[in-house]
Amino acid sequence: MTRFTQFTVCALALVAPAFASCDYGTHLYPREHTVPVSTFGYNDLIGPLNWYSLNKTANELCATGQHQSPIVLDSSIATAHGDSISFTVESYPFGAEFENLGSTVEVPVNGTLKAGGKDYKLAQFHFHTPSEHRIDSEYHPMEIHFVFSTPDKSTAVVSFLVDFGVPNLLLSSVFQNVNEIATPGETTLTGPLLFAALENHLKSNAIFTYSGSLTTPPCTEGVDWYISAQPLQIDTATYGKVKDVIKFNARYTQNKLGGVNLLQNIANELK
Ligand SMILES: *[C@@H]1O[C@H](CO)[C@@H](O)[C@H](O)[C@H]1NC(C)=O
Ligand SMILES: *[C@@H]1O[C@H](CO)[C@@H](O)[C@H](O)[C@H]1NC(C)=O
Ligand SMILES: [Zn+2]
Repeated sequence: MTRFTQFTVCALALVAPAFASCDYGTHLYPREHTVPVSTFGYNDLIGPLNWYSLNKTANELCATGQHQSPIVLDSSIATAHGDSISFTVESYPFGAEFENLGSTVEVPVNGTLKAGGKDYKLAQFHFHTPSEHRIDSEYHPMEIHFVFSTPDKSTAVVSFLVDFGVPNLLLSSVFQNVNEIATPGETTLTGPLLFAALENHLKSNAIFTYSGSLTTPPCTEGVDWYISAQPLQIDTATYGKVKDVIKFNARYTQNKLGGVNLLQNIANELK
């Protein structure tokens, strides 16, 4: 996570069925359409251990915050039933724009979340390989973040961990053309996106809930997390295509909620 997309939709994508297949790369959908690439990353001096140094004002919480994400989800974290929140994502039967931001691959979409007495709107969903959150310390091959906000700038993330298993119709369709955005800044179209099965999955299983942070700069806190306790599944062939593009984008696991920031701790120790 997590960028709020200032997104100018290529409106044709939503109205022209032919576009999803035939017209890509024509005047209807110029190939040179690009998106801005993130200035932070996951390697060496732009990686998570150094996000604070990239901008000490903006990213201070990355190094000092005490409610940072991701964390290990265990019995100390509250759970609720998935039907205690209401999560909906609009259908995109002709596909939606799929962007490589360098730090993740992302699909800007509309949707709603009612949770904790707040009404949120969806901005986008994006992917991490491997997962950022861990359940009872165990990581998963993938995590999906649906990023919501309210007009007064409250943020919530609905998250799904993904394990290896059978093909998932939605994920296969999202990643249909992922090889076309192998270079940061590139965009393409997903296949058809229908979210009923995913909405049902969330509703039918327990969720972990806690107040944490964005897992990317500026590591803003007060983010309400709703994480399905039951992982989805993805087939290894699809996963391999995605991993080739994302490569690696998981922030390291943070300290327990309320505990000293791990970077602050090491700074103190080294003095
Ligand atoms: C650092 O972040 C601050 C606050 O968001 C911003 O005003 C400033 O331009 C940023 N500095 C750099 C060098 O990007
Ligand atoms: C989301 O909804 C807004 C407002 O109705 C619309 O302008 C925008 O094109 C929609 N975006 C997508 C990706 O559907
Ligand atoms: Zn994320």
